[in-house]
Amino acid sequence: MLRARIAVLVSGGGTNLQALIDSQGNTLKSGEIVLVISSNPNAYALERAEKSGILSAVIPRSAPDFEARIVRLLEEHSIDLIILAGFMCILSEDFTRRYPRRIINIHPSLIPSFCGEGCYGLNVHRAALSRGVKVTGATVHYVNEIPDGGEIIFQKAVDIHSGDTPETLQRRVMEQAEWLLLPMAAEKVSKTIIQERQ
Ligand code: GRF
Repeated sequence: MLRARIAVLVSGGGTNLQALIDSQGNTLKSGEIVLVISSNPNAYALERAEKSGILSAVIPRSAPDFEARIVRLLEEHSIDLIILAGFMCILSEDFTRRYPRRIINIHPSLIPSFCGEGCYGLNVHRAALSRGVKVTGATVHYVNEIPDGGEIIFQKAVDIHSGDTPETLQRRVMEQAEWLLLPMAAEKVSKTIIQERQ
């Protein structure tokens, strides 16, 4: 069966990458993860890729030709869909315009709340807790030139519990939202890509 060729871009622990890997063959049927690119040589996500036999590469975010090297790898591996999973770099307008509706990102809040400049990782949950919201969640969206500004694909709400810390809240948002939504979105976009090709 023809499947979309997926590259996952990571920078850290890779729990969202792991959710995608584990979803292959069940939630994710129309796409296949064939490449992992990390901006961080020490990312545990690289171990996860290796354990699953997925080709990986490190392109340090400090590299002067960072984006050009990413593009070259994506082209070499005929990538159809790029998934940002805990990827801590903002991609340029040139890069995002090259792949319209072919880059998706998981953000740990209900966009448009708690997103944009500086809102990533634990910062997002700190902001939600300090604002005192009772509900947060996660969003999967297409990536365009506006940070966290692309069309929303899926969202899922998660309750905030009294006594939550940024860490306990991040874990709940990952477990109850991120790790479910990202495979669903990967399947939805992969299926669209395959259908457009037929
Ligand atoms: C987490 O804060 C997650 O919400 C966001 O990136 C961070 C790391 O995710 N998407 P991962 O464990 O590297 O997938």
